[in-house]
Amino acid sequence: MSAELSALPHPDFSRTERVPGAAKEDPILVADGVTRTFGGVRAVDVGHLEVPRHAITALIGPNGAGKTTLFNLLTGFDRPDGGTWTFEGRRVERLGAARLARAGMVRTFQLTKALSRMTVLDNMRLGAKDQLGERLGPALVPWMWSGREAEVTARATELLARFKLDTKMNDFAGSLSGGQRKLLEMARALMTEPKMIMLDEPMAGVNPALTQSLLGHITDLRDRGMTVLFVEHDMHMVRHISDWVVVMAEGRIVAEGPPRSVMNDQAVVDAYLGSHHDTDLGDDALLQDQPETEQRGS
Ligand SMILES: Nc1ncnc2c1ncn2[C@@H]1O[C@H](COP(=O)(O)OP(=O)(O)O)[C@@H](O)[C@H]1O
Ligand SMILES: [Mg+2]
Repeated sequence: MSAELSALPHPDFSRTERVPGAAKEDPILVADGVTRTFGGVRAVDVGHLEVPRHAITALIGPNGAGKTTLFNLLTGFDRPDGGTWTFEGRRVERLGAARLARAGMVRTFQLTKALSRMTVLDNMRLGAKDQLGERLGPALVPWMWSGREAEVTARATELLARFKLDTKMNDFAGSLSGGQRKLLEMARALMTEPKMIMLDEPMAGVNPALTQSLLGHITDLRDRGMTVLFVEHDMHMVRHISDWVVVMAEGRIVAEGPPRSVMNDQAVVDAYLGSHHDTDLGDDALLQDQPETEQRGS
């Protein structure tokens, strides 16, 4: 990694309006009028969204709010009914997942996609190829070219060491714990050196013992200059690591702001406490600060 750690200024949101669709000083992703309907259900209906560069943005909201669907649309894994979005100023709504990965935007999945009966190292190699697409990869990403297999392996090894999975390199991915699979998925997404990474519920199924390390890895991504957008139910985590929070309910963005102010916002309270009692955002989490050392497992 060539990025200089901590050389980047901490993201500053003091001049950002705390409203849905708020303009950001330097957005890396800008979406307009994005809609997706399943049967009669409008799963996503996002008027305007700007994702700030070099920051960690949390996307929160009750189950069924449309968070995963929005991720699928923005990352080219699903097609919208309507809408446009730009990444790095370039219109990308027609690009598929492979071309978006090439442009620097990758994602991980709510349910990990590590292949159990393949080694950790092979998951890294294949995962990268997967992200980039079989056809586009070899021609356009030099290190993916088969003649440069050693470089692929070197990058995979370096990333596995960073995520403390190097000792598991030759083990089947199926032998990893839930948390280690999450780390593997994150490491695999980084094979393509993305500018922006979207994490769908990175903490789901992670043993509390790995929670702190996962949090550290996510803030490290920002400190290395990447932009992070993540979906998470665990409000301790959201409060602890996010710079900015976007709230979705019934497909729409209903609130935005810094973590502390958003969690006291009436629209957020309504979104969670309406008909949805299955999230772990309780009254206490809304109304008072939790000790930061107390991490909730999931
Ligand atoms: N492939 C699909 N087919 C039909 N309905 C879907 C599909 N994916 C999501 N939905 C519906 O869209 C809504 C949003 O779902 P989702 O994006 O998974 O929410 P979240 O990730 O916020 O929990 C839900 O009502 C869900 O049932
Ligand atoms: Mg989801």
